[in-house]
Amino acid sequence: MPQRSSQGSGFESGADSDGHGPGGLMKFLVTGGAGFIGSALVRHLLMATEHSVVHVDKLTYAANLDSLAAVSASPRYAFEWIDIADRAAMESVFSRHQPDVVMHLAAESHVDRSIAGPDLFIHTNVVGTATLLEVARQYWQGLQPPRREAFRLLHVSTDEVYGDLELDAAPFTESHPYKPSSPYAASKASSDHLVRAWHRTYGLPVLVSNCSNNYGPCQFPEKLIPLMILNALHGRALPVYGDGQQIRDWLYVEDHVRALLRVVEAGRVGATYNIGGHNERTNLEVVRAVCSLLDELVCERPDQLQSFHELITSVTDRPGHDRRYAVDAKRMAEELGWTPQETFESGLRRTVQWYLANPHWWRRVLDGAYRQTTAERIAS
Ligand SMILES: NC(=O)c1ccc[n+]([C@@H]2O[C@H](COP(=O)([O-])OP(=O)(O)OC[C@H]3O[C@@H](n4cnc5c(N)ncnc54)[C@H](O)[C@@H]3O)[C@@H](O)[C@H]2O)c1
Repeated sequence: MPQRSSQGSGFESGADSDGHGPGGLMKFLVTGGAGFIGSALVRHLLMATEHSVVHVDKLTYAANLDSLAAVSASPRYAFEWIDIADRAAMESVFSRHQPDVVMHLAAESHVDRSIAGPDLFIHTNVVGTATLLEVARQYWQGLQPPRREAFRLLHVSTDEVYGDLELDAAPFTESHPYKPSSPYAASKASSDHLVRAWHRTYGLPVLVSNCSNNYGPCQFPEKLIPLMILNALHGRALPVYGDGQQIRDWLYVEDHVRALLRVVEAGRVGATYNIGGHNERTNLEVVRAVCSLLDELVCERPDQLQSFHELITSVTDRPGHDRRYAVDAKRMAEELGWTPQETFESGLRRTVQWYLANPHWWRRVLDGAYRQTTAERIAS
């Protein structure tokens, strides 16, 4: 069956088969599919390919089912309300849905929350990942060829596992040593090691990706870019940590989704792929760029405001705040032919325009109504 796919993300090798499994249509088990990146991935799979998705999610505060509204009625979409650390429930999901590919995005993902309370990060990111690996291993060992050879598990991780990078140092390659700073980064580093151990010890066909800071539509407004957009629209202060000179490499979420699909499609089993946007910016540069776009695009300003730049305010820095992350994504380009399609300027413009065009999405986040959809889903 011909597949509608965008650049490099369509599993084109399976395009001439109707069969389920290798060479044909795939069933993707996506953990954390109601989160920011997970929902972009689920939307892409259901709107741009013919594959099926089983979405496993605990529906924490970071989950927003509104982000899946365009695809959740699809007959190719199934939802399972599960904590990935619940082994019996995970075994049941694998047994009932028989996935061909696992894309593991479920995590506690906010650094500040990990500093305030690390326990949940250990539970989900470490224990949850270990549980997923064990369940996937037993399932995979029971598969018959050729499905067994074709099975893949992609673990989605972060560049924060590498720790702080000197200003004049070369960007992180895949062989950069691990030196995580925050409880979040340490929990993700632990999960990366677990995933690699399950490959080395049991032969489980895993891949690991470590990406830089994502941005784009449907991001929860505790993260820098949506926080700045929404605070600015409400005439509130735009809090920038310390001197604002922390450097991050910004990756547009839809570029990331295309990269993840390239990795499971053509990546080498057992390999790691660093995914970055080639967009190093200081936090202050990012906030200023958001303000300039809002100055251009928003006619009605909050009271007395000449420019949104007036709202920028310095606040006490985060403890242990890394100064710089930068990703060398050469392996993605050379082995898998992936490069980001968006520049920071084009991606940020799209992002700001999306928030301006979708107030119903973020208003339901700000007033908590999005949790109502979650409660209804859980009750049904
Ligand atoms: N957002 C970024 O910039 C970024 C950068 C690098 C890496 N990552 C990684 O990418 C992945 C996705 O990030 P995101 O920003 O979309 O995260 P997110 O916080 O927006 O979403 C996390 C999702 O995981 C679910 N979840 C949390 N705990 C769970 C559990 N125990 N069982 C089942 N589901 C659970 C949540 O309900 C939510 O749907 C994470 O693994 C994160 O570490 C994110």
